[in-house]
Amino acid sequence: MKSNHESADSTASSPVPAPPDRHPGNPFVGLRVAITGGTSGLGLALVRELLNRGARVAFVARRRDRVEQVRHELPDSHGIVGDVSRKEDIHPITMQIVGALGGLDVLINNASDLGPMPLKLLADTECEELERAVATNVLGPFRLTKALLGSLAASAREGREAVVINVSSDAALNAYARWGAYGASKAALLHLSRIWDEELSQEGVRIFSIDPGDMDTPMHAAAVPDADISTLKRPEVAALELADAVAEVLSRRPIVQEAFA
Ligand SMILES: NC(=O)c1ccc[n+]([C@@H]2O[C@H](COP(=O)([O-])OP(=O)(O)OC[C@H]3O[C@@H](n4cnc5c(N)ncnc54)[C@H](OP(=O)(O)O)[C@@H]3O)[C@@H](O)[C@H]2O)c1
Repeated sequence: MKSNHESADSTASSPVPAPPDRHPGNPFVGLRVAITGGTSGLGLALVRELLNRGARVAFVARRRDRVEQVRHELPDSHGIVGDVSRKEDIHPITMQIVGALGGLDVLINNASDLGPMPLKLLADTECEELERAVATNVLGPFRLTKALLGSLAASAREGREAVVINVSSDAALNAYARWGAYGASKAALLHLSRIWDEELSQEGVRIFSIDPGDMDTPMHAAAVPDADISTLKRPEVAALELADAVAEVLSRRPIVQEAFA
């Protein structure tokens, strides 16, 4: 009773801005989403899925021709050319995301590097190959999230639920031989996500790590060329599951799983 009374008083003396309009049954309408690695596999499927649900979407990838191709196919999207593993690209990527969307509610760190190709034992892995995997899979998401935290926190203050999804893998949990650079970097990303969520959830910014499961994508084909693709998930299915997980967070329900595999 007492706290209710106090909050009513404080609202009267300093009005809290009303949350922006949202379609009651669809938390994605007008949602501002940035996705790294949006020109292939899961990232591209996510761009399509979230646009279809009514979100405003900016995506990032390194190859300009692919970014332009996706922009042409999905003219409502905003394509950004950039490399998340390069420190000097983070500020321009951030400025373009915020400029295109006018702020940010959801960041999906999806771009990833497998390390040595073909996959190698750790003893045969070059330091530079491990460095590249860590730069793409850990430092990239860390720098980009840090650079966008102000926008995400502003979104939370405006009454939206701000969310960062870091795309993980079962290799973050299991010690698969020859997946050392990738697995170690994904494990670091998973733990970074858990700690950051502890630190930021009180401010309304939630940070999750999600394993989409084995998917039929160019990355999987490069890593396991002889895989039976009939056993792999379509990236469109993983995108739908991931979007549903984002919807759960947006509706302020606790996410129940970290893996869809
Ligand atoms: N496929 C699977 O079975 C599987 C399983 C578990 C987890 N995952 C995870 O799911 C996510 C998506 O994987 P995927 O299989 O969909 O990959 P994918 O088909 O290879 O697509 C990767 C995307 O990321 C972009 N990219 C790569 N490095 C980048 C960088 N440094 N900066 C910016 N963009 C970059 C690529 O475009 P450019 O090359 O033009 O930059 C491309 O758009 C990854 O995090 C992966 O670890 C995949």
